[in-house]
Amino acid sequence: MINRFKVLSGTANPVLAHLVARELGSQLGKCVIERYTDGEVSVQIRESVRSKEVFLVQPPSPPADDHLNELLALADACRRAGAARIAAVVPFFGYGRSDKRHGRREPIMARMVADLLEAVGVDHVVTVDPHTAQIEGFFHVPVDSLTAVPTLCGARRGRLPARIVIVAPDAGRVAMANHYAQCLDAPVVVLHKRRIDGTQTEVTHMAGEVSGRPCLIVDDMISTGGTVTESIRALLEAGVQPELILAATHGQLVANAREKLSTDSVDVHEEKWPELRTVSIAPLLASALERLAADGPRGELHSKSLRQTAAHAKEKI
Ligand code: R5P
Repeated sequence: MINRFKVLSGTANPVLAHLVARELGSQLGKCVIERYTDGEVSVQIRESVRSKEVFLVQPPSPPADDHLNELLALADACRRAGAARIAAVVPFFGYGRSDKRHGRREPIMARMVADLLEAVGVDHVVTVDPHTAQIEGFFHVPVDSLTAVPTLCGARRGRLPARIVIVAPDAGRVAMANHYAQCLDAPVVVLHKRRIDGTQTEVTHMAGEVSGRPCLIVDDMISTGGTVTESIRALLEAGVQPELILAATHGQLVANAREKLSTDSVDVHEEKWPELRTVSIAPLLASALERLAADGPRGELHSKSLRQTAAHAKEKI
């Protein structure tokens, strides 16, 4: 029988882990993570996890390999210490973009991450706005794929300019843009993006009317800022009202956006970006984990509790 839960964090985002634990009416479990001088990781869990449901809050955000390794080490330590169940709470699913082969001799890293997590004993995965839905299919264990779209919309509702258009920066973001459009009752415009290399992209086509209208560009993640920068350039060239807002679930780096909006799935530093607003997804994660611990249904997370979470986020801003 499972004897309650324990929330543990690696070094990727302890602030979010602490907030999640607090939302659950608990505290972070004690563990020490160090690096040997040669760079190898050392993990020690300093309290019992035997027969407990363990929530490991550790997104493989940059530096992805270090944080992924810590997550694997934490899961292995919990399994060997007799944890009843281990849930990897990875709001940002690192390597999610490597979900297919573009050429003949490439790995599928997202699949590799899934295999590694299962190999060390992860029984459940909780993630938020993964790059593609198919990542869930890389796992044999259950995956709860949450979305931060209502949380982000709730944080800005009533404070968005009139006649705003939702912009999907590439075809892969159409479903997400439609979700924003539904929440905000706005039309969608789709850009067609061609990737030149790892940091540069080019917009080749635009489907929809943007002239004279303010835009909300939405994306799952901002990495180098290349996609966003090029989308803004193309939108300005098409004559949009120069009032551009950017909403991304996983904010890593942004260039040239007038206002930026992201969640705390990745540890971001607001002081470097006076226009950045970070919206916490701790309540969203906590309601999923609460249900997980109680073996309750998570389907409702996409309806009722998400609306509550959005309202909660709105109050906090
Ligand atoms: C790509 O398909 C993703 O959805 C993001 O648009 C992209 O990964 C963002 O990366 P960057 O900021 O480097 O353009």
